[in-house]
Amino acid sequence: MSEIKRVGVLGCGLMGSGIAQVAAAAGYETLVRDVAQPILDRAKAGIGQSLAKFVEKGKLQPVDREAALKRLNFTTTTADLKPCDIVIEAVTEDLEVKNALWKELDARCGPGTIFASNTSSLTIAAMAAATRRPDRFVGLHFFNPVPLMQLVEVVKTVTTSGETFSRAYAFAKSLGKEPVAAKDNSGFIVNLLLVPYLLDAIRALEHGVASVPDIDKAMQLGCGYPMGPLTLLDFVGLDTTYRIAEIMFAEYKDQKYAPPPLLKRMVLAGMSGKKSGKGFYDYSVNPPAVSSLGL
Ligand code: CAA
Ligand code: NAD
Repeated sequence: MSEIKRVGVLGCGLMGSGIAQVAAAAGYETLVRDVAQPILDRAKAGIGQSLAKFVEKGKLQPVDREAALKRLNFTTTTADLKPCDIVIEAVTEDLEVKNALWKELDARCGPGTIFASNTSSLTIAAMAAATRRPDRFVGLHFFNPVPLMQLVEVVKTVTTSGETFSRAYAFAKSLGKEPVAAKDNSGFIVNLLLVPYLLDAIRALEHGVASVPDIDKAMQLGCGYPMGPLTLLDFVGLDTTYRIAEIMFAEYKDQKYAPPPLLKRMVLAGMSGKKSGKGFYDYSVNPPAVSSLGL
């Protein structure tokens, strides 16, 4: 198989834009696809700002920022990803949405293109089976915020070839990340452990154990976590967390993955966390205030 030179990224929300940034910064020609131009424009501006922060901190030379931005291109047409050597998918956590894209790309990309999903909770098998390249399908699970988080879980499903896994693992390293190998179970390693913790923090709030800031403060100061769980939920996205919980609950039938009613109510109210301006905290004010949740 040929060397990886061109990277395609499907979706440029929180994760896709971060993945595109690190790929371009690592020297790959990177093409990002999302459904509408304003989404692409917002992602491009965000990547520019994040790279500028690295320059400000002396971690990146201005000339390297410019070069990374030049390697980044944006499109609303899936077919443009045809020449990519690897396509990393980071669209909404929904199997139907993801598989519709994989089927379309499978028909267009050459046999050498590796397909990689950044899914949080779906199995890689459920996507690989929708394509004619189940041996060239792998999981590459990045962490939020991608430019700062070191870890990538590299996931081999039952059909993934050894060569595809090795290439994906080496690719993650080439981005400056620390890969770990994980089995294709829903949630891989991190979300298997993290998701029940995050959902339990919402249950604690529902049961009146403590206030939003005190739950966060307790876990930050009591356990040394960089963020409290409710801040982290806002950061991950409450809509995404709700989908993850539903998928993991359907898979394991274990109450610890069941989405708490409060999470569902907040998602129904359009409170998706930081990206929508409101979640457990209200980000329309600086510093963010605690949201009124009718509790
Ligand atoms: N781009 C570039 N630089 C950035 C940046 C960005 N987007 N955001 C922040 N920075 C820089 C800051 O300028 C700062 O630089 P200095 O240290 O030189 O001052 C540095 O990064 C740290 O930023 P902050 O001081 O603002 O914030 P922090 O020290 O609290 O660290 C954090 C930020 C790394 C996000 C930290 O809070 C953290 O680790 N939080 C937990 C994140 C986490 O758990 N992520 C996993 C989520 S779960 C997941 O991803 C899986 C899933 O499937 C849902
Ligand atoms: P997000 O809501 O920020 O972004 C999703 C993006 O997908 C949006 O920009 C949307 O327009 C786009 N999209 C939807 N349908 C599309 C299509 N048909 N073609 C192209 N783009 C399409 O979500 P996110 O947080 O970036 O999550 C994306 C994926 O990454 C999910 O599978 C999620 O589970 C996973 N993930 C999320 C996190 C996190 O902390 N948020 C961490 C690791 C993995």
